[in-house]
Amino acid sequence: MTSARGTSPGPAGPPVPPVLSPDQRVTAVMRRAVATGLLGDDRPVAGFLDTDGIRASVASLDAAFAHVPDVLHTFAVKATSLVPVLRLLARLGMGCEVAGPGELRIALDAGVAPQRIVFDSPAKTRPELGEALALGVAVNADSLDELRRIDELRPADSASVLGLRVNPQVGGGSIGAMSTATATSKFGVALRDPGARDRVVRAFAERPWLTRLHAHVGSQGCPLELIAEGVAQTYLLAEEINRTLGTRQVTSLDIGGGLPVNFDDEETRPAFSDYTGALLAAVPGLFDGRYALVTEFGRSLLAKNGFIGARVEYTKEAGGRRIAVTHAGAQTATRTVLMPDAWPLRVGAYDADGNPRTGTPVRQDIAGPCCFAGDVVAHDRELPELVEGDHVVLHDTGAYYFSTHWAYNSLPRPAVYGFTAERADSVRLVTVRDAQTLDEIAAESGLAHADALVCPADPEGD
Ligand SMILES: Cc1ncc(COP(=O)(O)O)c(C=O)c1O
Repeated sequence: MTSARGTSPGPAGPPVPPVLSPDQRVTAVMRRAVATGLLGDDRPVAGFLDTDGIRASVASLDAAFAHVPDVLHTFAVKATSLVPVLRLLARLGMGCEVAGPGELRIALDAGVAPQRIVFDSPAKTRPELGEALALGVAVNADSLDELRRIDELRPADSASVLGLRVNPQVGGGSIGAMSTATATSKFGVALRDPGARDRVVRAFAERPWLTRLHAHVGSQGCPLELIAEGVAQTYLLAEEINRTLGTRQVTSLDIGGGLPVNFDDEETRPAFSDYTGALLAAVPGLFDGRYALVTEFGRSLLAKNGFIGARVEYTKEAGGRRIAVTHAGAQTATRTVLMPDAWPLRVGAYDADGNPRTGTPVRQDIAGPCCFAGDVVAHDRELPELVEGDHVVLHDTGAYYFSTHWAYNSLPRPAVYGFTAERADSVRLVTVRDAQTLDEIAAESGLAHADALVCPADPEGD
């Protein structure tokens, strides 16, 4: 269970060990962000992504699967839906897993070849399916009904690899909302339901172009053994289909993503190699080359390679509780605020210049800027006492926190910067996403239709 972060492949050469520890890198970036005004009065919150760390994470994924003859690693775009991130990952050899038309669009805009994109979603529309099939994007049908739509829409010369998502119903992990292989999950064909297995085998028999099985057992909170058991059930189904049909029609298995992330400390655990070990134990034949593999990792590649930095706007005492009111709240740490027990985050205390705050720890709440009482990212946390003008860092927020913004209170989506920081004095920051402007917020809030409701007689409304 060791971390592969901390080494990164150079542009074209062997891994170059960075000189700074992860904490030192955060400090170097915070200092630089404050000094250059990327964090300040007018920009009180921003996201930061560690470019070298992302490279190192992809290298450790590649290394864990190096012995597999045919594998396509796709990145689950929902985890960090930013074009520059997808382009970097594509340059590092990855494809994309997309779950809707917006994600498909940005994967294509990032330059990812359609053949390296997998389209999953439980609610694909006919136009979305038609576009994917015309482009040659791989599609995993979520149900037998969706397969019937593909029957109608698939051009005879479609280059798309077509698969069927199954739910192996192996059970859930510790976070219900992240568990996709429960008995009643909305995803895939529920394999253990009466008659379902036969219906799946028949669906393959009727469609020689159906060549892939897909399963994504779950994400955060799911133990490796549970995920491996789901993959094992999918593998056994592929063997059964091929045996029944008397031909190797199922040629690839998409084993999903879902490797959990350790949010407790700096260590990356479990490692991708722990996962391949668990897979090998559960499915000894998986890596023997008879099936091409597709993976769809998200959080395990990006979470530990990003953090949020935010200003402390005010501090106060209420009922004996110390509260730091910051700009890191539910608009960007949505899951953590709404489900604090499932998504706790490490919080760091930094001074006005971006240096780590020292001093006797004091119990304090780290609150956000949103207008509801529950907007607190950390309750009763022991940290050096924060004062106005200080900063907080929310660690391990590189996955989902920059893509799952909440528009509540019309707070702007924060900017995201990529960084390299080999030494404390050599930090380089580049813009990955600009902060949302107030003009953009107004436009997205219906400004162009401002009169729509005061002219009810006009059916067009504008
Ligand atoms: C189908 C599918 N694949 C991959 C992922 C990525 O999961 P993770 O970020 O946990 O690796 C998800 C997450 O929701 C998913 O639904």
